[in-house]
Amino acid sequence: VTMAKFVDALPVPPIALPVGKRAHPAFGARQLPLYRLPMRAFSAKVHRDLPPTPQWGYAGCTPGPTIVTRRDEPVLVEWANELPVRHFLPIDHGIHGAEKSKPEVRTVTHVHGARVSAPNDGWPEDWYVPGKSVTSLYPGDQDATTLWYHDHAMGITRLNIYAGLFGSFLVHDDEEQALGLPSGEFDMPLVLYDRLLAKSGKLYYPVSEDPEAPWVSECHGDAVLCNGKLYPYLDVEPRRYRFRLINVANSSFFNLSLSHGKPFQQIGSDQGLLAAPTDRTNIELYPAERAEVIVDFSAYAGQSVQLRHQSEGIVEFRVRAKGRRDTSVVPANLRPVQRIDPSTAVQDRVLALGEQDDSGGSPMTMLLDGKMWSDPISEKPRKGTVETWTFVNVTGDAHPMHLHLVRFQIVERRPFDLFAWNARKELKFTGPPILPAAHEAGWKDTVRCDPGMVTRIVARFDGEPGKYVWHCHYLEHEDNEMMRPYELV
Ligand code: C2O
Ligand code: CU
Repeated sequence: VTMAKFVDALPVPPIALPVGKRAHPAFGARQLPLYRLPMRAFSAKVHRDLPPTPQWGYAGCTPGPTIVTRRDEPVLVEWANELPVRHFLPIDHGIHGAEKSKPEVRTVTHVHGARVSAPNDGWPEDWYVPGKSVTSLYPGDQDATTLWYHDHAMGITRLNIYAGLFGSFLVHDDEEQALGLPSGEFDMPLVLYDRLLAKSGKLYYPVSEDPEAPWVSECHGDAVLCNGKLYPYLDVEPRRYRFRLINVANSSFFNLSLSHGKPFQQIGSDQGLLAAPTDRTNIELYPAERAEVIVDFSAYAGQSVQLRHQSEGIVEFRVRAKGRRDTSVVPANLRPVQRIDPSTAVQDRVLALGEQDDSGGSPMTMLLDGKMWSDPISEKPRKGTVETWTFVNVTGDAHPMHLHLVRFQIVERRPFDLFAWNARKELKFTGPPILPAAHEAGWKDTVRCDPGMVTRIVARFDGEPGKYVWHCHYLEHEDNEMMRPYELV
């Protein structure tokens, strides 16, 4: 079906408001803002010409309310599961953690990219059922950036996120706010995801041929939604805007550009501001990656500009003839990014992505370093030390790899000899290292690992000791064994 384009206004997710204040043992008597986000079933129109789509969302909307925080200002969030007890998407009970003995509807929220202690991080097995809630502490011990929250329940994360359980979580800090970037109503998240929609408006999640094992290895939609709408438009003033592009898709990447052919000015990546703005005509975003961009509409008064994925317009910006005075600036220097010297690493972990399970499991299962989720923890970085993690992608696809708790830098990508690896586990490079371009030279928490490439990252493992996870952010992979625990000791 071809849908009429740009007939619905782009929603800007509401800003979450605290429901009260509460102390937390970690901060003594200090009263912290308390937010409450109940997960609920609801229906909403994603397009003028479609009936309302049944979805699940935080506070009854998708994306959920945007949580706006400041560095060093801790907040509490009560994540309440008020969902029905039956799931509306196809659970695969053969997947670890989603057995028939488990309740169908289980949730646990993780704030992607937040620096939090293990008990507040949303451990995938710490899920809870409708009627229950969990309150988590977010200390705000990190630089200004664009984070997002989403469900992380073991074995059904892909279905819960597909149903709509996600939202933005922004961190501000003094230095970032002193830069004079567009702010307030001129600063907004653009949350991007693709879906398969039936004419009835219902969400369709793809299934395999085997009704007993419906899991599919990837999920690609034909409708690209932004902030809950298909082909929305946004009225803008002829001035600068700061957009926070967030890819929350299950396993699709977006190749974004502007229809006038002019570049975005990218100012930030996953974990904060880049050292300097960098012009980019095309921005590729893999699942869970973020890019903060400035788009200046001042030369386009009275015209329209589209945000495109590949060659298709997905959002239309309609530039008004006149607007208020734009006092925002984009400084030539944003924030120094101190490079971590990889030679200070006390450990280099060589980890294969997609090593097959040959222990009699399904031949389709892709593993991390040949291990299953339930295998003993093998990655135990020491608090305060620097490590490099070297991802050896032995599959034919890219995998966006994500580590909880820490921010990292990309050291390099380098082609390698797959035969030598398969025969002897020998890492034989076949070409020179490729260093990250400016837009990947800042702080990251998710990195695209290309096929045929070794991708090396470096991180300082600061934080509270405890168990965290690392995984591929293709949700279909993550749910089916491409996720492993690690322990900060
Ligand atoms: Cu965005 Cu482990 O998650
Ligand atoms: Cu993957």
